[in-house]
Amino acid sequence: MEEPQTTSPHVLLFPVPAQGHINVMLKFAELLSLSSIRVTFLTTEHSYRQLTLHSDVLPRFSLFPSFQFRTISDGLPLSHPRIFAHHLTEMLHSFVSVTKPLFRDMLLSPHFSSDLTCLILDGFFSYLLDIDDDFVKVPTFCFRTSGACSTWTILSIPNLIKQGQLPIKGEDDMDRILDNVPGMENLLRCRDLPGFCRATDPNNDPILQFIMSTFIRSTKFSALIMNTFEDLEGPILSNIRTLCPNLYSIGPLHALLKTKLTHETESLNNLWEVDRSCLTWLGNQAAGSVIYVSFGSITVMGNRELMEFWHGLVNSGRSFLWVIRPDLLKGENGEIEIPAELEEGTKQRGYMVGWTPQEKVLCHEAVGGFLTHSGWNSTLESIVAGKPMICWPYGFDQLVNSRFVSNVWNLGLDMKDLCDRETVAKMVNDVMVNRKEEFVRSATEIANLARQSVNPGGSSYANFDRLIEDIKILSR
Ligand code: UDX
Repeated sequence: MEEPQTTSPHVLLFPVPAQGHINVMLKFAELLSLSSIRVTFLTTEHSYRQLTLHSDVLPRFSLFPSFQFRTISDGLPLSHPRIFAHHLTEMLHSFVSVTKPLFRDMLLSPHFSSDLTCLILDGFFSYLLDIDDDFVKVPTFCFRTSGACSTWTILSIPNLIKQGQLPIKGEDDMDRILDNVPGMENLLRCRDLPGFCRATDPNNDPILQFIMSTFIRSTKFSALIMNTFEDLEGPILSNIRTLCPNLYSIGPLHALLKTKLTHETESLNNLWEVDRSCLTWLGNQAAGSVIYVSFGSITVMGNRELMEFWHGLVNSGRSFLWVIRPDLLKGENGEIEIPAELEEGTKQRGYMVGWTPQEKVLCHEAVGGFLTHSGWNSTLESIVAGKPMICWPYGFDQLVNSRFVSNVWNLGLDMKDLCDRETVAKMVNDVMVNRKEEFVRSATEIANLARQSVNPGGSSYANFDRLIEDIKILSR
């Protein structure tokens, strides 16, 4: 791959090689490219292969002659399945032992770094650099793919430990309110904290300590870029600014990209093959009649949970479009057979696919609600589409996101820690029928605010322009 020849600012982006991170950081790369910034998008050999196989990134980015992909090894053989839910520790180990030194060598190479203006590193990759590293000669910005609510929660954990509010003392303690997180008074319960906070000895738990340190480290970089908007998370953003004042809230990025593009495009950044037949199926359904079900790119579930969802969806009597990724079922990889007792209900009202064009699906008029794992991208996509949600958070940031969806933004219901067919059927009917008006009203209001934020005069639109100006100033 040849180095670009122009003299405009040159930015290196490095996302964690997972769908939810690559998707949004490629949209960000597209936005930077549209603003005449030269972008080098660094990704692992494996995710580059998946992206070029299943998405339109190569033709789309060929429109920007100064954009380039660059690959780096994640230390695992290409045939490794890389399922985050199963191989997280192995992958983290490999990133530290293989990717970190390769990345440092790359930054040290004068050929690469001589014209670099700044580095924009995924917040979860902040451990690839050490804060006192002085070989990085350019400012480093941190890009957070998760929302402000979960970011602030994790940044508050050291205080919760200091105040003796953690550890959580067993199942009976789960509904205790954590009063001392500024901006979240009377809201956050122990059960809303990310799963790793359920550790019994927080001061000595390696995963909790590791995650906390990467979050704290990421506030020490030159700037923090967040995929959220002021009207959604303004008060929480103000708290984060006490630790990292140079913060650009520029989301929802997929909607900002739509504003900035002069032509209609889909910007597919998939690591899986998209099945578009679901759009034809949706085209034959009545307006607002379908519940869309997707648990994102990382969630896995056991057969018991799969069956509870399946029975609940069929018993709800509503039509459903369900994404069953090939690796959704724990320990399985392949076709899932329809149980005999669910065959008729599934055939009459259900449609299952391996991967959808989700943004398009959510905006489809047939979709009336979204049963989601509350990943941050899915949450923002649902917000922009104005669709109410039922949240079944799987882990990480999702447990905080679902609490905000239900108890702050009134956009739907939080199923957290429950997974039984009665609850699924009841919540589907509450969101799609019984409380539909209430949720659609808030969803429409927040969707309007989201759209305003990414249009000229809106906060995210202005913050993105400020970011571009600041990058340009750095290159002078
Ligand atoms: C996880 C975290 O939960 C998330 O908050 C973090 O920011 C990234 O890592 P993930 O499980 O991938 O994310 O969920 P989510 O953030 O919702 O991202 C999934 C992406 O895949 C979304 O952009 C969604 O549109 C896309 N998708 C999902 C599809 O395009 N088709 C599908 O069928 C399912």
